[in-house]
Amino acid sequence: MVNDVFAPATLGPVKLRNRTVKAATFEGRAPQGQVTDELIDYHLAVTRGGVGLTTVAYLAIAPEGRTHAQQIVVGEDTLPGLSRLVDAIHESGAAIAGQVGHAGPVANGRSNGVRALSASRMPSPLSMQMVRSASEKDLTRITKAYVATARTLVRAGFDVLELHMAHSYLISSFLAPGLNRRKDKWGGAMENRARLGRQVARAVREEVGSSVALTAKVSLSDGFKGGVTTDSGLEFAQLLEADGTLDALQMSGGSSLMNPMYLFRGGAPVKEFAASMPLPVRLGMKTPMGKGFMKEYDFEEAYFLEKALKFREGLSLPLMLLGGINRRDTMERAMALGFDFVAMGRALLREPDLVNKLQGSTQDAGVCIHCNRCMPTIYSGTRCPVIAETVTV
Ligand SMILES: Cc1cc2nc3c(=O)[nH]c(=O)nc-3n(C[C@H](O)[C@H](O)[C@H](O)COP(=O)(O)O)c2cc1C
Repeated sequence: MVNDVFAPATLGPVKLRNRTVKAATFEGRAPQGQVTDELIDYHLAVTRGGVGLTTVAYLAIAPEGRTHAQQIVVGEDTLPGLSRLVDAIHESGAAIAGQVGHAGPVANGRSNGVRALSASRMPSPLSMQMVRSASEKDLTRITKAYVATARTLVRAGFDVLELHMAHSYLISSFLAPGLNRRKDKWGGAMENRARLGRQVARAVREEVGSSVALTAKVSLSDGFKGGVTTDSGLEFAQLLEADGTLDALQMSGGSSLMNPMYLFRGGAPVKEFAASMPLPVRLGMKTPMGKGFMKEYDFEEAYFLEKALKFREGLSLPLMLLGGINRRDTMERAMALGFDFVAMGRALLREPDLVNKLQGSTQDAGVCIHCNRCMPTIYSGTRCPVIAETVTV
């Protein structure tokens, strides 16, 4: 096995120049739901900076599946912009993934102007509205919308489609017994809770064949009672693997709905986050439920490694390690431990050219401090606020 993270690799049918991946970080650069020059530049910064694969985050399959109104809903009208984005990234020598998803209960119904839906009816701490339970008709429509989205993204030239199955988004809400109280074929046993994710992966694979790589972002643990655990997450991943629909899994964790900081670790910027939210949510954050929303977890390099190793032992699919990767030696260790790719979010927001720096040995580690103040910037153009503060004139 080649242990060099900077060596070329294949992901399904796609050739990558190295094994580093820019993880999806919603860009906040599509105010009209269309690709903008700013969105292209955001991705060019990391691909010119050395990553093998960048991920566009995120591409909604339906209007009610947006986390926020200013997001791309993939359709015929978005095709020219998406093609332009893909061409620019290819010219820079990297490959491009589209994170395809339906936010389910994480969607902001108030901002979207369409009610959010989930496995079961629940109040949303994000929109302070009730989220409705998805009907049989919704699930048929949503599966078809995943297929139509995939078709458009293939036409635009995307190399990889990443299905979002984590963070309490729609598919993930079905997996979590605490969010899925259904008594029908979509609830109860794992076989039922996993049905939507497997159905979507199967339908999308049937549509795209082997023209692109198909991956999923899955949970190593949702970090809340009633969420996906490491054991149930692995069970789900094994079902996906047995279906033979995917080329790789990216292993994540936490819940954008119930426990976002479980995913991030490090600083919990409660004030900045509240300030970026509309009034009803700001008020909601003052309630006991709201106050518990942003728990603080100590940051540790590669904080998901232990759980990810359980997935490595239980699966043969290629795996992308994610979560607090900043150092070249961590990447080398990940390769030595049998992971196939490393994915990074915040380290690349702080230093889009980090991969080049690590590869050229001008640095051994990134300088991101995991203050997480990038998080509340997603509504105003995702960025690292520390960069602006450290620029000297
Ligand atoms: C500002 C910001 C926006 C994010 N947006 C998304 C997103 O749209 N979809 C997603 O799956 N994960 C999203 N994430 C999570 C990242 O993909 C990644 O899982 C997380 O930051 C942990 O990796 P890291 O330690 O390398 O940053 C976001 C993270 C940040 C910091």
